[in-house]
Amino acid sequence: MTSPGNIYPEFERMLGRDAKEAQLKQHGHVFWFYGLSGSGKSTLANALERELTNKGYVIKILDGDNIRSRLNSDLGFSDTDRCENIRRIAEVARLFLEAGIVVFTSFITPKRSLRAAASEILGEGNITRIYVEASFETCAKRDIKGLYAKAATGGLKEFTGKDSFFEAPEQADNDWTIRTEEQSEEESLRELLEKVSPFISLANS
Ligand code: ADX
Repeated sequence: MTSPGNIYPEFERMLGRDAKEAQLKQHGHVFWFYGLSGSGKSTLANALERELTNKGYVIKILDGDNIRSRLNSDLGFSDTDRCENIRRIAEVARLFLEAGIVVFTSFITPKRSLRAAASEILGEGNITRIYVEASFETCAKRDIKGLYAKAATGGLKEFTGKDSFFEAPEQADNDWTIRTEEQSEEESLRELLEKVSPFISLANS
């Protein structure tokens, strides 16, 4: 993306991230949940938010349907729009990160290139990508929002996993995987709490 002319971004005079993190007594970090619709991304992000808020952490959730109903309400599900969706969300997550906040994002983010773009915007050390794995068949059985049924009868175009491709991670991506077909919600939550805590706790600096 090219920078427009006559714009002079300046960050040095502002209070830095370190000062914000010291005040909040936490490390800011972005945990980027991705996977098929209905895989459990939002459920896990919401449960984690509750647990960590109770422990005193300041958390912000950015969630697909919420962001798409406001900030990104002009975007659809073409490849170009999904790309712009993820770019804006990563930029918003970056703003929260600069304020020392722990961010959980919950977006399908169907392609490796989109996940790489998010990491590029945030900086590799600031983001942990978490693949919430459940098969298309399992998600279709859960069908919490009724979208799989709609897609099956042709009432929903460009549906992820049906006529729009979902690309699973590769080993080299170094992403975490949470298998919601094999674990209960409680088990996934405990596993995540254990793994997330060292990233956000100041005790580990
Ligand atoms: S992404 O591909 O650009 O990352 P995002 O996570 O923002 O997608 O939005 C996905 C949500 O939009 C789904 O959870 C679902 O509720 C809704 N949705 C509506 N239409 C579609 C579609 N064609 N494909 C996938 N999700 C859709």
